[in-house]
Amino acid sequence: MSRLECKNSVEKVSDVVSGKEDSKPSVKRKRLAVFVSGGGSNFRSIHQACAEGAVNGDVVALVTNKHACGGALYAGDKGIPVVLFPKTKDEPDALSSDDLVNVLRRFEVDFILLAGYLKLIPVELIRAYPRSIFNIHPSLLPAFGGKGYYGLKVHKAVIASGARYSGPTIHFVDEHYDTGRILAQRVVPVRANDTPEELASRVLVEEHKLYVEVTAALCEDRIVWREDGVPLIQSKENPEEYY
Ligand code: GRF
Repeated sequence: MSRLECKNSVEKVSDVVSGKEDSKPSVKRKRLAVFVSGGGSNFRSIHQACAEGAVNGDVVALVTNKHACGGALYAGDKGIPVVLFPKTKDEPDALSSDDLVNVLRRFEVDFILLAGYLKLIPVELIRAYPRSIFNIHPSLLPAFGGKGYYGLKVHKAVIASGARYSGPTIHFVDEHYDTGRILAQRVVPVRANDTPEELASRVLVEEHKLYVEVTAALCEDRIVWREDGVPLIQSKENPEEYY
């Protein structure tokens, strides 16, 4: 069986466990595109981690459906190319799905990180980047996910349900909202007197840490696939451990 299961060095956990990793060559620095519709605090923390050397990758493009959102302004400030997608009557100069795929290919993008991007990802992009597109959602999926669960609506629903724990989920992206394979989660307590805003800000602190950790793992080829199709992260400190 080939060690590499598909492009981007996604490996089989059984092969890694059997020690075939001993001669792992140094890992190529990865090229990231981040998709944002709003303030872009996750984007900023990922960009900073790349700039500080904590992530073996670089943000080479910022894709947005809102040219004046916080994320786009930050990208402009840092000299990161801003790509507008999709084309709408508010953004007539934006790209079509096929053009977006071509532009990302031209930037030689390895991975796509959705960080508060509110539009559905077109099937053309999902097919062009198999197992290479990720999203962060501010609840413990599969609870409180899917169409309509975004922003404060998620946290309001969590509080109303009486759930005692919430927290961010990072998952692979497929053709539907919030249904791709779960890759990483972090638990955050829900307090008895929480407002949606308070819960959102407690979850956001963990989002920043989790997305940077996952991006670091991704850029070091530490994502592996269990035989049943569940993606796992190989621990950096102890390569025998997966979580
Ligand atoms: C985050 O809560 C993320 O989970 C959700 O959208 C929000 C984006 O926040 N998908 P920011 O733009 O990164 O600050």
